[in-house]
Amino acid sequence: MKIGILISGRGSNMVAIVEAVQSGQLPNSEVVVVISDKKSAEGLEKAKARGVETVVVARKQRSREEHDAEIIAELKRRGTELVCLAGYMRLLSGDFVAAFPNKIVNIHPSLLPAFPGLEAQRQAFDYGVKISGCTVHFVDEDLDHGAIILQKAVEVADTDTAETLSAKILEHEHALYIEALRIIVRKNYKIVGRKVFYD
Ligand code: GAR
Repeated sequence: MKIGILISGRGSNMVAIVEAVQSGQLPNSEVVVVISDKKSAEGLEKAKARGVETVVVARKQRSREEHDAEIIAELKRRGTELVCLAGYMRLLSGDFVAAFPNKIVNIHPSLLPAFPGLEAQRQAFDYGVKISGCTVHFVDEDLDHGAIILQKAVEVADTDTAETLSAKILEHEHALYIEALRIIVRKNYKIVGRKVFYD
């Protein structure tokens, strides 16, 4: 399965995916490109260092549709079959979602549907929840909303800060993302409405 990864920043989830592919943990798959909407994204160097082609598609005051059209073209040109959002901080247009039906996945640092949007870990921490976590889900046109593939709960300790909670969640994000991608790469799952079933 040809995987394209979209990032906007640090790229630690992207690195986890690339390393899982390169170590054979994700069989029959290849990362064909890492695309960033930010030229300054730290993840770009990390991808290059691992021998993965990188492309920057900056927004340049274009509409969401125009920007997405260029990203879709870069992905399609390389035969991308699965798009992984890994800290990609822009909402996708309807055109983007339609170009890869049920073939876009995202990781979000909360137990959705709680705390969608930016700084989910801080939102959860400020709310005072005792348990948060992370979610891997298919992407639809609404923010952090598509059918859920896997979730992992993480306890919030009294001694946690928003930063330590983020770090604790991130440790689980990498493993959870790979587990979800193993399900997708095996291709023996089905999506029924909002539910994803697999063995
Ligand atoms: C991760 O915590 C990811 O879950 C989050 O951004 C961070 C990116 O880190 N994504 C979102 O909040 C998407 N709504 P990374 O660049 O090191 O993977």
